[in-house]
Amino acid sequence: MTSTPTTLFILGASGDLTSRLLLPSLAALLQRQPQRRIAVRGAGTEAWDASTWRSVVSDAFTDAPDALDRVHIEDYVAADVTDRTAVASLVESLAPGTVLYFALPPAVTRAAIEAMQGLTLPEGTLLAMEKPFGDDEASARELNERLLALVPEQQVFRVDHFLGRSTLLNLLGVRLPHRIWEPVWSAEHIESVFIRFDESLALEGRARYYDKAGAMIDMIQSHLLQVLALLAMDPPASLDERDLRDAKAAVLRATHVRGDDPAASSRRARYTAGRVGDRELPAYVDEEGVDAARNTETLAEVTFEVSNDRWEGVPFVLRSGKALRAKHSEVVVTFRQVRHLPRGLAGQPADGGRLTFSLGPDTMVLGLHVTGGDDPFALRDEDLTADLGEGQRRSYEEALDELLDGEVALSVRADEAEECWRIIQPVRDAWAKGEVPLEEYAAGSLGPASWPTSN
Ligand code: BG6
Repeated sequence: MTSTPTTLFILGASGDLTSRLLLPSLAALLQRQPQRRIAVRGAGTEAWDASTWRSVVSDAFTDAPDALDRVHIEDYVAADVTDRTAVASLVESLAPGTVLYFALPPAVTRAAIEAMQGLTLPEGTLLAMEKPFGDDEASARELNERLLALVPEQQVFRVDHFLGRSTLLNLLGVRLPHRIWEPVWSAEHIESVFIRFDESLALEGRARYYDKAGAMIDMIQSHLLQVLALLAMDPPASLDERDLRDAKAAVLRATHVRGDDPAASSRRARYTAGRVGDRELPAYVDEEGVDAARNTETLAEVTFEVSNDRWEGVPFVLRSGKALRAKHSEVVVTFRQVRHLPRGLAGQPADGGRLTFSLGPDTMVLGLHVTGGDDPFALRDEDLTADLGEGQRRSYEEALDELLDGEVALSVRADEAEECWRIIQPVRDAWAKGEVPLEEYAAGSLGPASWPTSN
């Protein structure tokens, strides 16, 4: 953390992401960190004057009025950031060490990076990018090449706000320091891994983006594969950006659709009309801006495997969907059954124990089989639950915290971004060919009844 102001220059300053997420997260971060000082600049398509920009920033600080005193609100420029002349003059105006945040739709980000080619960015300029990063492996690679022509990799921050979640970082905190976990963290002892992010939220007016992405790209490709990488990686020598990201990238390179059979290893579904809590939801296809012919899934499940010595044969099931009955986000590690249970012990446990990390509220639950009930030789299940705390930081705040300090360990590296597209491509192809039926589930339900994970 620093007391000298860092300049955050937001491209897309008049857009929804800036007012809805970026500025409020900045406000919360500054509220927690009284030493931090920030200068904010903006460029956007709206013809705002200085006072409009000032009030947009101030409004985001309504709940953090003290923090606003530590923000130096600088200029707002109405500019088309895809125009080379406009971009050249923006770049000219950058102070060294500026964080340039592309809070823009992906196509506009790409065009802005294109317009920057050949320009010289001042020393230490950090480029922050939102997901989705490209729309397939080739386009991600091309975007990476363009970025790396401007700044070195250590000055690119590809935001995955999941990597800022305290629960995910707890995966490392729980696993790495303990002899009770680390020696059993492999296919020899682990039967399966299930990474689930069910949401009760539906489309929330995001059809323009979501209808082209769908649940698999929106969540599995963008976030859950990173969770898999953190869970499955070899313990890194340090948590610096190189060691941590080398370890994750090695896992991702070894990851592929189970059996290389996307038709057998994936499912997809789309919600029909229903009720989530007290909200009546229309069918996904009747939401504004949705094109039913795109066959976009709102619930996806894909089983992967990590083909290396540690994990060969273990299914990693990744699932995420919208408009489900309740938010249900967890990572479940199921241990293999023991080889032998003594005769005379009643009960057949289905597994050799189960470790569950739940996100929000953050808890860790160790599902154990114990005796000691009415019958001292009968097994029953008991949970050991640990509250992992509120998670002081909202995930976006954590990403910003790192970014403003120029720390990129919790950002997605170029090769990881490309791998995540490579990993899901066979599923996209199989779905496009109609090899996997698009099932249905009622909004507010647990998902299609035939899916064993819908409980
Ligand atoms: C975003 C997805 O990246 O993550 C959303 O685009 C999803 O569809 C969101 O709802 C989930 O993250 P969080 O932090 O809002 O729970």
